[in-house]
Amino acid sequence: MNEQTVRVVEIKQLTPRIKSLRLVSANENQLAAFSPGSHVAVAIPVEQKTKRNSYSLCSSPYKTDVYEIAVLLTENSRGGSEYLHQISVGTELKLGMPKNSFALASLARKHLLIAGGIGITPFLSILATLNRLQIPFELHYAAESPTECAFYEFLQERYSSQIKFYFSHLNNRLDPKQILKEQPLGTHVYLCTPPSLSEDILNTAQSLGYPDAAIHRELFGAVKSNKTKPFTAVLAQSETEIKVPKDKTLLEALEAANIPANYSCRAGGCGACEVKVLAGEIKHLDSYYSPEERAEQDRILACISRAKSKQLVIDI
Ligand code: FES
Repeated sequence: MNEQTVRVVEIKQLTPRIKSLRLVSANENQLAAFSPGSHVAVAIPVEQKTKRNSYSLCSSPYKTDVYEIAVLLTENSRGGSEYLHQISVGTELKLGMPKNSFALASLARKHLLIAGGIGITPFLSILATLNRLQIPFELHYAAESPTECAFYEFLQERYSSQIKFYFSHLNNRLDPKQILKEQPLGTHVYLCTPPSLSEDILNTAQSLGYPDAAIHRELFGAVKSNKTKPFTAVLAQSETEIKVPKDKTLLEALEAANIPANYSCRAGGCGACEVKVLAGEIKHLDSYYSPEERAEQDRILACISRAKSKQLVIDI
C-alpha cells in the first residue's frame, strides 16, 4: 500500500490563516500507523497537474482511525494550501504513507521542543507520545498573538505546566540563550520554526556546547534568498537542457518540464529530492548534508539548492 484514500470529516478554523482537517479512511482500509513527528504528502490538483505537499500529522499516534493535519494559507502558495482551504467536509484526498524526518531520540534525557507559528504541527504527535510515556519535556511556542496561535487552548488545557508561549505582538519574545542554558546534560533540542529563528537557536546551542547530534530540525518554508541567479540544468541521460529561472527551484523547473522528480519536505531537510551532479559547482542551501558531503560537490537537493556555475550537469 503506497497510497491511502481518506475523507475529510471535520474542518476547524484554528486561526484566521490556519485550518485543521480531520481525515478518516474513505474505504474499509485501516490508516497506516505512524511514529511521533511524522508527516504525510497530500496529493493536490493544481492546474491540471498533481502536486504533493507534506503536512505533519497532528493527531495522536495512538489513535489509529483518524489523522489530523493543519494547513496554513500561505501567500506564496503553489496552490496547495489554497486548495485545502477551499475544500469541504466529504472531500476525498489521496495521501502518501507517513514518513518521519523528525523522530525522537531514544537516548535523550529530556526533550526541549521549540516551535514557531505553524511549526507547532509536528509537535502535537510528539507531545501525545512524551506525555503518555511520562518522558520529561518542555515546549516553547512562539506566535504573533494568541489569536494567531494554533492549538492554543488545547495546549493550555492539556500541558499548561510544560509549555511557555511567546507572542511577538505583545513584545514577549523567545530568548534562545535563556532557554538553552538552563537545560540538564543529555537534553535533545527539536526545532520547527521559520529558518531565521532556527539559525539563531542553532548558533546559540552550538556556542553553549550542545553536540550536533542533540539538535534536530524540521524545516518548513524554504529559505528565500534574494541573491539567487538563474542557471541551466543539463540532463545528461536525455541530453536536454532546462532553464532554472531565479525565482524557481531546480525541482520546480523539472516539474514544469514534466520530468519526474522525487521529493517530500520541499525545504532541504529530508534528502528525498537528491540528484547526482556530474559537473558544475553547487551552491548548497539545505540543512541535510554535512560539511564533508557538501565539499564533495556531487549531489544536490533539487528542492532548494542551486548552481554557482552557469550550468549544472545532472544525472537524469
Ligand atoms: S524534498 Fe526534502 S530535501 Fe528536497
